[in-house]
Order: sequence, then structure tokens, then C-alpha cells
Amino acid sequence: MYQHIVVLTGAGISAESGLRTFRDQDGLWEEHHIEDVATPEGYAKDAELVERFYNSRWQQLNSGSVEPNAAHVALAKLEAEFPGQLLVVTQNIDNLHERAGSKRLLHMHGELTKGRCPRSQQTFTLREPYGPNNCCTCCIPAQRLRPHVVWFGEMPLGMDKIHQALDNCDLFIAIGTSGTVYPAAGFVDIVNHHGKQTVEVNLMPADRHSQFQYHLTGKAGDIVPKLVEVILSGNVVGTDLAAS
Ligand code: OAD
Repeated sequence: MYQHIVVLTGAGISAESGLRTFRDQDGLWEEHHIEDVATPEGYAKDAELVERFYNSRWQQLNSGSVEPNAAHVALAKLEAEFPGQLLVVTQNIDNLHERAGSKRLLHMHGELTKGRCPRSQQTFTLREPYGPNNCCTCCIPAQRLRPHVVWFGEMPLGMDKIHQALDNCDLFIAIGTSGTVYPAAGFVDIVNHHGKQTVEVNLMPADRHSQFQYHLTGKAGDIVPKLVEVILSGNVVGTDLAAS
């Protein structure tokens, strides 16, 4: 029976909920330049362009057509029923993990549902789209809220807690992430360094797949519920779970 589990999720876990990934065919980075919409420099140059990018994703998330899928639900079940410790670290800025019921959750790249005061760094739940009139209530004069999103060149959130969990875990599972963006892509190395078990769940082998001990190939929505049942039954994870 495992004692401490860390799960890292990426855009692939939300793909079956209808949210586009970044680097797959038809991914978001095919249509947008990272430097324009996901860097502090891009925001300084053209705030409206950046706001349009995140507003359209925020509106989609709130449209009623996007729901947590079986993988999000299974991870929430794992948290509720696992007698050991579980931390879900997500690179996703959507709120599908929490809507499925996850509570021990860390959004290392920020949250689409929040805006942040650029002066005080206080965060506010977004009630209307980003724009010149969507301002903080903590400063005089009120400051225009920026997306509460970690851009390239900025420090991901919660790194101390994440490192502590990685150092102590006996199972690390990466789900639906291409393994191209650091520091998340390097988490597997930390767990390998401690000689603990590492499992990748992906539609296809990702960039750093050779670093993982086990590969479960298929859709997160098919594999994660089975994986959770194996863990909850007290068994060790093996390769026999891959979708046929
Ligand atoms: P990517 O778009 O880079 O990778 C998505 C991964 O999910 C790919 O490896 C796909 O094969 C896999 N995938 C797609 N559908 C799947 C499914 N149904 N089941 C399982 N796997 C599936 O997304 P991330 O790795 O999350 O950062 O990207 C990391 C970061 O890069 C993002 O957080 C974002 C982006 O730039 C910032 O914006 C700072």
C-alpha cells in the first residue's frame, strides 16, 4: 500500500472535457504565439490581446458546456478514500479538479477564475471578464487586475510544498502532460532520484517518457479510474492497465 502519492496533471486531463491542449494538433499554441499571450512582456506590450485570450477561455469554462470528466472525478475519489496522503499538482488553470471535488490541490500555473492585483498581489475571484474596468479593491487608485496565471519567465506557485511532497512520495503519476515545460517536466527526476515509482498516463509517449518506469497509454478518462481502483485496493501499479 502506498503512503504518499503526488499526481501531476496537464492539459491532456481536461481534453475529454472539451478544453484544448497546447501542443497537440489543433492545440492553443498553433493559433497563438506564446510570447504574445503568455509572457509578462507580451502583457506589457498589448494587455487587451492577452485579456482576450484568457477571457475567451474563462467564458468557455463558465459556458455550462465544460464539465469535469471521469479522470478528474477518479482523482477526487482517490483523495476521499485513500488512507495515505495525496497531493494533486496541476499545471492547468481550469477549475475542473476542484469542481470534481479535489481539495488537496495546487495550481502551480495559477487559476483562470482569478485576477491578481499587480501591486499587492492579492487575488480576486473573477466576476466579469478582464478589462480596464475590472480592478482590485485593495489599492487606491484601484489597479487593473491581471490574469492570475504564471507566464513564461515567472516563478510557478507553491514550489516549496511541491518539493516537499515529491521528496516524500512513494508514487508519482503524471497525467496528460507533454513534459516540455519546466519545472514540472523535472518532477519525475526528483522522484527517480529517491528510487520511488513513477507512472505516466498519456495518449502517446511524451517528451520525457523514458524517465518513467511505467507507461499507461490511452485516454486519461479511461485509464485514471482504473488506476485509482488499483491504488485503493492496495495493489502496486503495473502496466496491465493500459487501454486496449
Ligand atoms: P501540452 O499541450 O503540452 O500536452 C498535453 C499532453 O496531453 C500531450 O502529451 C498529449 O499527448 C496528452 N493528451 C491529450 N489528450 C489526452 C487524453 N485524453 N488523455 C491523456 N493524455 C492526453 O500541455 P501541458 O503539458 O499541460 O503553461 O503543457 C504544460 C504547460 O505549457 C501549460 O501549463 C502551459 C503551456 O504553455 C503556461 O502557459 C505557463
